[in-house]
Amino acid sequence: MKLPLLGLAFALVSQAALAADAAPALQDKQAFIDHLLGQMNQAEKIGQLRLISIGPEMTAQTIREEIAAGRIGGTFNSRTAAENRPMQDAAMRSRLKIPMFFAYDTVHGERTIFPISLGLASSWDLAAIAQVGRTSAIEASADALDMTFAPMVDIARDPRWGRTSEGFGEDTYLTSRISETMVRAFQGKSPAERDSILAIVKHFALYGAVEGGRDYNTVDMSLPKMYNDYLPPYRAGIDAGAGGVMVALNSINGVPATANTWLMNDLLRKDWGFKGVTISDHGAIQELIRHGVARDGREAAKLAIKAGIDMSMNDSLYGEELPGLLKSGEVSQAELDQAVREVLGAKYEMGLFKDPYVRIGKPEDDVPDTYAESRLHRDAARDVAKRSLVLLENREQTLPLSKSAAIAVVGPLADAPIDMMGSWAADGRPQHSVTVREGLRRALDGRGKLVYAKGANVTGDKAILDYLNFLNFDAPEIVDDPRPPAVLIDEAVKAAQQADVVVAVVGESRGMSHESSSRTTLEIPASQRELIKALKATGKPLVLVLMNGRPLSIGWEREQADAILETWFSGTEGGNAIADVLFGDYNPSGKLPITFPRSVGQIPLYYNHLSIGRPFTPGQPGNYTSQYFEEPNGPLYPFGYGLSYSSFALSDLSLSSKHLQRGETLQAKVTVRNTGKRDGETVVQLYLQDVTGSMSRPVKELKRFEKLMLKAGESRTLAFELGEDDLKFYNAQLQHVAEAGTFNVQVGLDSQDVQQQSFDLR
Ligand code: BGC
Repeated sequence: MKLPLLGLAFALVSQAALAADAAPALQDKQAFIDHLLGQMNQAEKIGQLRLISIGPEMTAQTIREEIAAGRIGGTFNSRTAAENRPMQDAAMRSRLKIPMFFAYDTVHGERTIFPISLGLASSWDLAAIAQVGRTSAIEASADALDMTFAPMVDIARDPRWGRTSEGFGEDTYLTSRISETMVRAFQGKSPAERDSILAIVKHFALYGAVEGGRDYNTVDMSLPKMYNDYLPPYRAGIDAGAGGVMVALNSINGVPATANTWLMNDLLRKDWGFKGVTISDHGAIQELIRHGVARDGREAAKLAIKAGIDMSMNDSLYGEELPGLLKSGEVSQAELDQAVREVLGAKYEMGLFKDPYVRIGKPEDDVPDTYAESRLHRDAARDVAKRSLVLLENREQTLPLSKSAAIAVVGPLADAPIDMMGSWAADGRPQHSVTVREGLRRALDGRGKLVYAKGANVTGDKAILDYLNFLNFDAPEIVDDPRPPAVLIDEAVKAAQQADVVVAVVGESRGMSHESSSRTTLEIPASQRELIKALKATGKPLVLVLMNGRPLSIGWEREQADAILETWFSGTEGGNAIADVLFGDYNPSGKLPITFPRSVGQIPLYYNHLSIGRPFTPGQPGNYTSQYFEEPNGPLYPFGYGLSYSSFALSDLSLSSKHLQRGETLQAKVTVRNTGKRDGETVVQLYLQDVTGSMSRPVKELKRFEKLMLKAGESRTLAFELGEDDLKFYNAQLQHVAEAGTFNVQVGLDSQDVQQQSFDLR
């Protein structure tokens, strides 16, 4: 049977789901859901809690049968109207015709891939980030997706963790602002709109703090640190209206998040008033057994539902165990109903009861080619990508390059379309990626000269190569050049010798910064370091273009290079954006959202650490101070750092008052001048320090920032308004308080080099 088109679908839902005489109008969400719940049998209820992955585990036929039998509530990983329509048709054949939803990890783009999240954060540009969320929603919804498992807002202070690439860095305030921006952009005017997708904030909670940066490891954390530093970004996303939360795989102080009643019921629902759906991460309910908190599947299912996991992702335990648990009374009808209610509520929010085909559309409107070039948003991708690039070094004004120069572009990542996209690249296609080599070629457009040589493989370590290639199902991620390293290097050196300048594109392949890609070192692999050494020996100016998904310890590379541009994984248009910056068509404006340590041994190293009793003072002997004696202290590059082709200066920091009365505000004013010869953007950052408190407080915390464009020679005075709320923190009793005392206002163009003024709170 060919199934329903839009109006008809609604009619079917109205007839069946609302069959009884007293069927409430769709406008009344609560009444509608209560009524529907009243019609559901137990199996149908349990079915709604099942979220399955579309993959090889089940055939399309079986999936449709299961849906028609009311045994599946939603899917993820299918991503076209043609794929999703038959599943929605099957749902419309089910007894109550409860619509399915279709989810996916649309994290930094759907088909047009934008920079990875860490790159987006480097832009410090909320308007640009909003554009990423909106464009992603437009593309994903056009391909029949209703929900995204994003934004990922886990604070990461240990760059060994491969998923550092997926988050927005180390800072609570910056990540919180981005979290709410992304949620609003994904969900648009309303998550029910045709071109909106429901945002699922993840991974709740504290996933970024896994011990040792080792993925899936435990998290142990004091409550004040949790409340002050790690929880606010999830809360910001929820307060911005996120429809759901994905629960983290890790344990928190010994209790796995998936079985954590305190986390999901007390904190999330009671304290924060969250009303949306909670979804377990992949297979997490089953994993409660290996966490050692459940003896068997039955206990795991019981713990999860009682703790507040509504939907179970790729995990059969709810289906297998809930009937028995309900029968024995170990799980109550009310507990089951509550979970079902949240799932139905999310479907309601996505507009699916009104029109199950709202994003699937009509078959005759299906696009003939999902991956058509015309469906991409290249201009937006290029614009955002160039804003995300961070200039780390530029000696002797090596950059920008001249378009009449002879350029050698070398390195294993110079022409690597898959790597441009970064991890979690949704439905991005490598053939759409503009690589750095291609971006330079297009920018030169026949002028100058461009020679290319690979120069090295990403890694010379066979075991690592095999590990990374395991990640891609379609084709090997990393194409290894079988020639001996010396031959590759020799070719690159010859290319360099013919050139005026060398652009070496080095760093990590995208799989090195991914789920399950934790590292013990932050160095660029040896094969690439050998290449850099040989290039340096040619005496040609050396520009390093870094691609990586975490801070790298690049102290040695810094000595070799004349210029360094951090590009993260910059997306579909990355090569063009990088060329825009290398040739000066765009003046770089990105700032680091995460500290670059000198070595892995310094980790964790983050700018907003607590005050301590024996701090190290630069320039003074380190003995009996908190430091490492083998290398200089402090970061290689601090949080908030990034250069421009222009220069900027701050002056005249002043406060409107030396005292802040509770309930009132004061203004911090500062003048910023473009002291260079080019127009450009910079990011003015305002930090606060609570000098003395009932607990040790951070040495500084970001509280405001503003990215602004200034013409050469132009200056502007910015005013930042600060109030009591900005001074609040969670004390040892977890009270959210602003304590009387002195506060330092520090304003800078990075977190280290700041001007300071003080005021008192009375
Ligand atoms: C990841 C989640 C992701 C899910 C579905 C899991 O492995 O931890 O972040 O949303 O898979 O793809």
